[in-house]
Amino acid sequence: MKNQATVARKLDHIKICLDKDVQTKKSTGFEDIDFVHSALPESDLANIKTNSKLFGHEFAAPIFISAMTGGHPVAEKINKTLAIAAQEIGVGLGLGSQRAALENPQLEITYSIARKYAPDAFLIGNIGAPQLVDGTIRAKEAKKVIEMIDGNALAIHLNALQEAIQPEGDSNYLGVIQAINKLADELDVPIIAKETGAGISRETANLLEKAGVAGIDIQGVGGTSFSAVEVYRAEEQGLERLKRLGTLFWDWGLPTVVSTVEVVHSTSQVEIIASGGIRNGMDIAKAIALGADGIGIASPLLEPAFSGDVEAVKSVIDSIIAELKCAMFLTGARAIEDLKKVPIIISGNSANWLTLRGIDISMFAKRLFKK
Ligand SMILES: Cc1cc2nc3c(=O)[nH]c(=O)nc-3n(C[C@H](O)[C@H](O)[C@H](O)COP(=O)(O)O)c2cc1C
Repeated sequence: MKNQATVARKLDHIKICLDKDVQTKKSTGFEDIDFVHSALPESDLANIKTNSKLFGHEFAAPIFISAMTGGHPVAEKINKTLAIAAQEIGVGLGLGSQRAALENPQLEITYSIARKYAPDAFLIGNIGAPQLVDGTIRAKEAKKVIEMIDGNALAIHLNALQEAIQPEGDSNYLGVIQAINKLADELDVPIIAKETGAGISRETANLLEKAGVAGIDIQGVGGTSFSAVEVYRAEEQGLERLKRLGTLFWDWGLPTVVSTVEVVHSTSQVEIIASGGIRNGMDIAKAIALGADGIGIASPLLEPAFSGDVEAVKSVIDSIIAELKCAMFLTGARAIEDLKKVPIIISGNSANWLTLRGIDISMFAKRLFKK
């Protein structure tokens, strides 16, 4: 019964994300970031390098296809399509929450198919923070989740906002940080703490770093809103109060730009993935210039993956890599590491927010990039 509900919810999420407008109305803040154009870039566009090392693994570009699905027959085709594209291009792939397969092992194939078609890609398993609290997932189950996909890392998704609005939500987050700390001691793959739309603050990043996570995926406001997804589910189920709640919290959280900077400035050991509304290669360049190590992208790949169209998925990723290279060329950055050194100007709402939070944004503008 419980498993049927989990499986049905997975399909609801895919359908709603495909058919409805579930993007936040608030922006990521990338429009507040400007590069200082270099009229003499001293480089050759044809030789710009986007290869990067993330979590000790070689990537052709610092891109992760963010966790989307699993646990439903439809998900098998989606994950196969994304896996082939990830393997062929050389980017990472996150699988959706694996809770459904823990409840029903017959569903394991909908996740494990990814490793079959992406033997060399960096694959990230996925579990939810509330399941660490209610005891459904402990070290044994977490290890099973990783084994299922021969995973390189495990994402623990933080989705307090979604759980608060979901009719069947698990909204008990008491003790999550202790549970993450314990799991980090017990697992031998890196743990990535991953938001699902509301961003990570500097205070949260501090706690996560102390708890021993190796990575933080900030998923901030500006892209897919899971509050919005739950509004449509509440509407379908005639749940007026939840629909009203989800509408009110549609844009809740830290926008992607400010969350990225908050996390960069409050951690020293973790690798940082910027995500939430990343839609082109210039957004990627800006996120990396702000200090992110990599980026995540989900919803633009859902439709082509749902159609099983590997070439279309690859085309989206190849286009954004070409755009990233163009932004690198015009700032004089020949390699991804250079992007972290080029000057950028932060203005508008992002500047206001970060300044009020005590972060000195002038240092981004004063950087002197020497090759
Ligand atoms: C259909 C769909 C299902 C998702 N399921 C999960 C999930 O199971 N676990 C998770 O951590 N994130 C999940 N996400 C969130 C994405 O990983 C990503 O963080 C989010 O969509 C933001 O990226 P975007 O703005 O590029 O879509 C899902 C997103 C979509 C669109």
